[in-house]
Amino acid sequence: MSTAVDIRSEVLRQQFREVRQRSEKIAAPLEIEDFVVQSMPDASPIKWHLAHTTWFFETFVLQPSLADYVSPWPQFEYLFNSYYNTVGRPFPRSERGLLSRPTVTDVWKYRRYVDERIEEVMSTLDAQLLTVIELGVHHEQQHQELMLTDLKHAFSCNPLCPAYVDQAAIGETAASDRRWIAYEGGISSIGYDGDQFCYDNEQPAHQTLLEPYALASRLVTSGEYLEFMADGGYQDPQWWLSDGWNFLQSQQIVAPLYWRQQAEHWLQLTLGGLVPVSPSQPVHHVSYYEADAFARWAGHRLPTEQEWETAAQTELASSDSIQGLFLESEEFRPLPASLDATNRMQQLFGDVWQWTASPYTAYPRYRASAGALGEYNGKFMCNQWVLRGGSCVTPQSHIRATYRNFFGPGKRWQFSGIRLAKSI
Ligand code: AVJ
Ligand code: FE
Repeated sequence: MSTAVDIRSEVLRQQFREVRQRSEKIAAPLEIEDFVVQSMPDASPIKWHLAHTTWFFETFVLQPSLADYVSPWPQFEYLFNSYYNTVGRPFPRSERGLLSRPTVTDVWKYRRYVDERIEEVMSTLDAQLLTVIELGVHHEQQHQELMLTDLKHAFSCNPLCPAYVDQAAIGETAASDRRWIAYEGGISSIGYDGDQFCYDNEQPAHQTLLEPYALASRLVTSGEYLEFMADGGYQDPQWWLSDGWNFLQSQQIVAPLYWRQQAEHWLQLTLGGLVPVSPSQPVHHVSYYEADAFARWAGHRLPTEQEWETAAQTELASSDSIQGLFLESEEFRPLPASLDATNRMQQLFGDVWQWTASPYTAYPRYRASAGALGEYNGKFMCNQWVLRGGSCVTPQSHIRATYRNFFGPGKRWQFSGIRLAKSI
């Protein structure tokens, strides 16, 4: 007879296998040298991601479930701890690229070893540890996105402009017209209220009051962003938050990250190599400051996360599942909003993360999980902004209407873009 726990452990075993394989698939096109580079403190080497996601399962599942568990690599606890002070002192983030040892071969062995132990213990785990496996699966999905964004950043530092994939340029395709979709406002329920997985920062579900508003029917395109640039947007302080203006001056920013000017044309470094900027493609690799300045210049604003989530709930009520351009498409880039827009709202999920006007803070009555895993999300609720919707490098099963991503306002290396909003 199968109990609920048995069934759950079989489902999770399958998800565990799939997520572990997907990380290997992401790494498969790489050369050995690519695994070790750390191009900036925000980004980590591919080898580190592969080891850290393994460390997560070892530390939070194997250690607590096997009383006599002793890691064959006791120093990995230090090397591959990202930020869990409860577990012990983490190795400094900015020095991850200095670790030529353990080798990539050692890290593959580490993965095999932990994978086998997890497979062995899986059927013995109680409901609480199964929940940690589930968290580990979602954690690895987050790192799959980070592997690709960090790799893109590392490649962008190389004058050879290496490509991760062979792909054709997007060409002259047009994007659909940008229209306004109105939402009536009122009392809206925000946050996760289902019985599947969610992160602690999506809870508790709670009520919020919205004034009537409208969201743009698609993302802002590079072509629209070029108009802002051509209008002197980066040179005119009236569009910029004070912090944003200082950010532009101190970092000499005149265009989205990865854009390069060649004569009167703009090129962009992509995971498919250096290609012309496509005017119909959603603009991506912009900071919160740039998103906010563009919105102001356009005479509009960014949506709050409550407005965004309410719109997503409304749109999902009329279609049964989340649709969008995700990692599984293997495009590794956003695409123009299709002209045959049968849905009224486009690109709500996938393509690029959408900066919201909302600071990343706790929902009313939020409580972080107990123990070390309470450090996962809650301690970052300061000086960061919420992004919604997922991107072309987010695994599809990772995203939800209630999902809250968060980054500092000056961060640009994620696939981050812009959706406009206005009050009505
Ligand atoms: C939610 C993407 C900001 O990058 O630190 C990875 C994801 N959390 N491991 C991050 C995460 C723990 C997190 N972000
Ligand atoms: Fe992590």
